[in-house]
Amino acid sequence: MYGFGRKIGEQRKQAGLPRGPISAKFTDDNMSANLLSTQFRKIKKSGQKIAALTAYDYPTARLVDEAGIDLILVGDSLGMVVLGYPDTTSVTLDDMIRHTGAVARGAKAAPVIADLPIGTYSTPGEALASARAVVAAGATGVKLEGGTEMAPQIRALVEADIPVLAHLGMLPQKIREEGGYKIKGRSPEEIRSLHRDAAAVQDAGAFAAVLEIVTPGLAKDISQSLEIPTIGIGSGDGCDGQILVLHDLVGLYPWFRPKFVTARTELAAPLSAAVREYIADTKGTDPESR
Ligand code: KIV
Repeated sequence: MYGFGRKIGEQRKQAGLPRGPISAKFTDDNMSANLLSTQFRKIKKSGQKIAALTAYDYPTARLVDEAGIDLILVGDSLGMVVLGYPDTTSVTLDDMIRHTGAVARGAKAAPVIADLPIGTYSTPGEALASARAVVAAGATGVKLEGGTEMAPQIRALVEADIPVLAHLGMLPQKIREEGGYKIKGRSPEEIRSLHRDAAAVQDAGAFAAVLEIVTPGLAKDISQSLEIPTIGIGSGDGCDGQILVLHDLVGLYPWFRPKFVTARTELAAPLSAAVREYIADTKGTDPESR
């Protein structure tokens, strides 16, 4: 845990959100895209790894934040693990605003990064309007999917002092075009284009880049070629940090779990058991009979 401050600023005050404890170094007024970027580069240089998780609501954000996580992502994985859609492509900006507000109320120390959902950042102007909406709800910054083609959007956001987390490799918002979750970086062409994309998002001002299911060797090479940290998911341990969907980590979405996830606990089973017990107690029946 690096004690990041959170850029709350005017938008956060306007949203009626409480000020959280912030480090001596970063205050509401001085936290900027540049400072966040400088801080993340420093962490990378120091060799410390970044531990990031998703959260989608107040209690999980508060628990994850109080446990000392370095970054909280309000991921559009919200679509699957909270809203019950088959993928992220039905998530709307209103969904993200609603859940970002809840997470921001729970997280006092870690930066809260909100995903820009599909179709809300096709141009730099659209990206700016969408990002301002989630920042007004309490986000520190935003994540968006794509490489070289997203450089103008990233530049516009960073110029407006909105920190950007890039997302390369497997892009969940493209799942329908791609027909599934496919590992990236197997062909020479993919290797070249991922290197190009990584350099482009760094040059455009992203403070870090998520690498999703990229071959471990390539993820390591990209990590070594960049000054900004990479945060891997299913991309091996050569990245500068790791991110997971909270529900996968704690076994709260038992119907599907990616192969690369090691769950640290299985919360679905005790939750079901507590509900069965409650039903049986209320009805005066045997919980095992249900
Ligand atoms: O939406 C999400 O949760 C993500 C992470 C898994 C990186 O994009």
